[in-house]
Parts: sequence; structure tokens; C-alpha cells
Amino acid sequence: MTIDLQINGVRKTVDVPREMPLLWVLRDTLGLTGTKFGCGIGACGACTVQIGGKAVRSCSTAVGEVTAPITTIEGLGTPDNLAILQQAWIAHQVAQCGYCQSGQLMQAASLLASNPAPSDAEIDAAMQGNLCRCGTYPRIRAAIKDAAKTMRGA
Ligand code: FES
Ligand code: FES
Repeated sequence: MTIDLQINGVRKTVDVPREMPLLWVLRDTLGLTGTKFGCGIGACGACTVQIGGKAVRSCSTAVGEVTAPITTIEGLGTPDNLAILQQAWIAHQVAQCGYCQSGQLMQAASLLASNPAPSDAEIDAAMQGNLCRCGTYPRIRAAIKDAAKTMRGA
């Protein structure tokens, strides 16, 4: 069936089963491969996107259930206009292998949208479902704090 989606500010119509995971639609139907497949069961965070500004696991979300605009890593910033969060990621050289990082960024962006000055404990609580096999957690936390500061103009 055809389903209308709003993705990164652009309207897209896809012809897929309603129960298909959003992750498959993003990657296989729309070619938005910045969002990664990790576990497929909502347990690692690699597939995190935002729906209506909230971080959501796209592997565990049926495309037919999506009613709000979707933002993927491709919509967070562009190479010429990186989001403040992405700039902080680069400044702190957060990524190692990089596989988990689009999910980490989308989760962190969602956190900062609702909490402009998160404490260490709040960062850890918000990010705990996003796993990183390379152990980049300390740099993720530092980058989030830095980005939060910049966004507050502090
Ligand atoms: S691939 Fe979705 S949470 Fe792991
Ligand atoms: S940077 Fe390698 S899994 Fe996170």
C-alpha cells in the first residue's frame, strides 16, 4: 500500500507493507543508509531516528504507524552546514569505527531538544540504550556537554 511520509522536510510516498520496519524503508526503499542496522530488536540504538522530535528505534517501528515527521542523520545537518552537535562530535573526535554514531547523534539531539543543560546522570540515562562496541562513551558525554553549552550561548 502507499504510505506518505515526511522525511527530513521532504514528502515521500512509498509503496510498502504497513508492517515493514521503518529502518528497511529508510535504507532499502529510500536509500537513506546513514541509519544503521545493528540488532533488529530495539536493543542497541544503531537505528535511532527521530519521529516528531523524539528518538525512536526504527528497526522496531512499523512504517504504517508513523504519523509525525521523521528526521534521520541525513537531516540533522549537511556537510556544508553541520549541526552544533555534529561539530562537537568532530571537535572531540568521538567516532571510532563509526557504526553506532548516527544513532548516538540522533539520540543526543533528541535529549538536547528537551533538556538544554543535561547533567552527567541525565546524559547517561538518555544515552544508555545506545551501545558502542568501541567504548566511545566518555567522548560522547563530553561532546554533548560542549554542544549544550554552545547552544545555550554559555
Ligand atoms: S538495530 Fe534497532 S535497536 Fe538495534
Ligand atoms: S564507534 Fe564503533 S561501535 Fe561505536
